[in-house]
Amino acid sequence: MIPQQDQRGPKPTPWLGKATQNAASRLDEYRTFFNTAVRNPKMVGAATPTSAAVAATVAQVVPTTGAPVVVELGPGTGSLSDGIHRRLPEGARHIGIELGKGMVEHLQAHKPWMEIVHGDAGDLQALLDKHGIDRVDAVISSIPWSLLPADAQDHILRQAADALAPQGAFTALTYLSADQTPGGRRFRGRLAQTFDEVLTHTTWRNLPPILHYICRRPLA
Ligand SMILES: C[S@@+](CC[C@H](N)C(=O)[O-])C[C@H]1O[C@@H](n2cnc3c(N)ncnc32)[C@H](O)[C@@H]1O
Repeated sequence: MIPQQDQRGPKPTPWLGKATQNAASRLDEYRTFFNTAVRNPKMVGAATPTSAAVAATVAQVVPTTGAPVVVELGPGTGSLSDGIHRRLPEGARHIGIELGKGMVEHLQAHKPWMEIVHGDAGDLQALLDKHGIDRVDAVISSIPWSLLPADAQDHILRQAADALAPQGAFTALTYLSADQTPGGRRFRGRLAQTFDEVLTHTTWRNLPPILHYICRRPLA
């Protein structure tokens, strides 16, 4: 006997659909990141997005109560953004300032809950004014600090420190190896001059390992 064809079609396998979607989205993320990095290696300062382990550490400075404002400098394709978003309470603002146009388009397509600004961290104060923000609870930065000229390091750092609320936190990520370069050493020294407290943490589960600076209480 010829078996009757099941009119309902194949049983849905939602987990498979989701897994395929996740893989496609991850592939798109890597493609966007890599293409931008190849065209602008100094601007991106990395070949791939940072790992989930880095994102988990970074997210710890994000306030979970009140109506905090969190600013990400250089969100890239948003590898840190999901962890930040998950911690933020209702009514919070999560602003990403990103210089790369391809990165901005990727963020707009994949992170609709984020306020994405296509702009330069060097214009931080003006961008915050434009978006009606007068204090920031956390600045999370992963721009390539160690590759920046001295005056650009100082200019961005001063604006970030000035924008912070009294209990706010500034974090910066660099490759552990970059910390030993002239630009990396200079940046570390500048952090010590700008903040009363500078803590460090290394995430080894990233290739290459990442050094986190977590800074509080800006000095005048
Ligand atoms: C090392 S990637 C980090 C991306 C992402 N946050 C991550 O952890 O995977 C640096 C990012 O900073 C962006 N960037 C570099 N200079 C910038 C600037 N002056 N203003 C805003 N974004 C900048 C780059 O386009 C890039 O997306």
